Amino acid sequence: MSSSDFIKEKHVQYVIEQDSHRSYEYWLSEHLRMNGLYWGVTALITMNELDALDRSQVIEYILSCWDDRSGGFSSFPKHDAHILSTLSALQVLKIYDLKLSMLSESQQEKLVVFIKGLQLPDGSFQGDKFGEVDTRFVYTAVSSLSLLDELTREISEPAVAFIMKCKNFDGGFGMLPGAESHAAQVFTCVGTLAIADRLDLIEKDNQLASWLSERQVLPSGGFNGRPEKLPDVCYSWWVLSSLAILNKKHWIDLAKLENFILTCQDLEDGGFSDRPDNQTDIYHTCFGIAGLSLIDFERYKFKEIDPVYCMPLQITKDFKKWKS
Ligand code: FPP
Ligand code: ZN
Repeated sequence: MSSSDFIKEKHVQYVIEQDSHRSYEYWLSEHLRMNGLYWGVTALITMNELDALDRSQVIEYILSCWDDRSGGFSSFPKHDAHILSTLSALQVLKIYDLKLSMLSESQQEKLVVFIKGLQLPDGSFQGDKFGEVDTRFVYTAVSSLSLLDELTREISEPAVAFIMKCKNFDGGFGMLPGAESHAAQVFTCVGTLAIADRLDLIEKDNQLASWLSERQVLPSGGFNGRPEKLPDVCYSWWVLSSLAILNKKHWIDLAKLENFILTCQDLEDGGFSDRPDNQTDIYHTCFGIAGLSLIDFERYKFKEIDPVYCMPLQITKDFKKWKS
């Protein structure tokens, strides 16, 4: 399939219409609503179209998901707080106001207690008080504390030790120690090391960069998440951001990857799917656009995206590294 032009206006329309897609699937996805908001806002701001969404409505929705009992954000009003929805909420709030002035001091204090309370003695993090552990939650917790200017070495060092236990003999990282390498988990591990200022542990690791480069599937040029799997647009982000953090984007064929991403657009209704001609969704739309920003933000007239936080560099450049 040959590549198409980037159809920006249709993608903007696709994102703003998300909330009116009141389908059966929409009602089943309440647990993803806060993540979905982050994916939509990230797609828009990257395309320099943040104003397409109403700022006060977005902030109002996020604040309606505050769970005062836990001290975090849920995905949907009156649900329980979770670290995944808490990071998404903080990312969107930070995009609208670096100082997070829409959160009271007491809310910010509760957030720190909630997040720190999810860390286990081995440095890992649970997603919520019900227990599952996964390198996703380590990244999400460390990134959230960083957005709150509350990251300390006391938290990050055990987290880094846990991340390094998830490294495999093939160079990749898995969701737990001993679990199979997976490109999205690699992003969460490399991202955690970057936020914690410990890229020294992997920067000379050509085996990791090789494993990531091998994710490019030919002839399509798209990336897969693991050996023998089909290519998928979201891995354009998980893999290329990891390579970008390692300063090794040039190890893959960027033109072929770009072509693959563009073939995953729905040319009629906007949005991106995981593979050409599949059903679009806001998750793959966000990561398709974020991937294009990593490939060539200038040519697309996009904002440059920070591969560590998956937020515009224009915002993350003012983040403080450590709690002062
Ligand atoms: C795979 O999703 C993705 C992951 C396991 C990583 C998710 C990472 C986070 C939640 C951390 C926050 C991320 C950012 C960018 C701020 P999947 O298996 O559902 O995807 P797929 O089915 O399309 O392969
Ligand atoms: Zn995917």
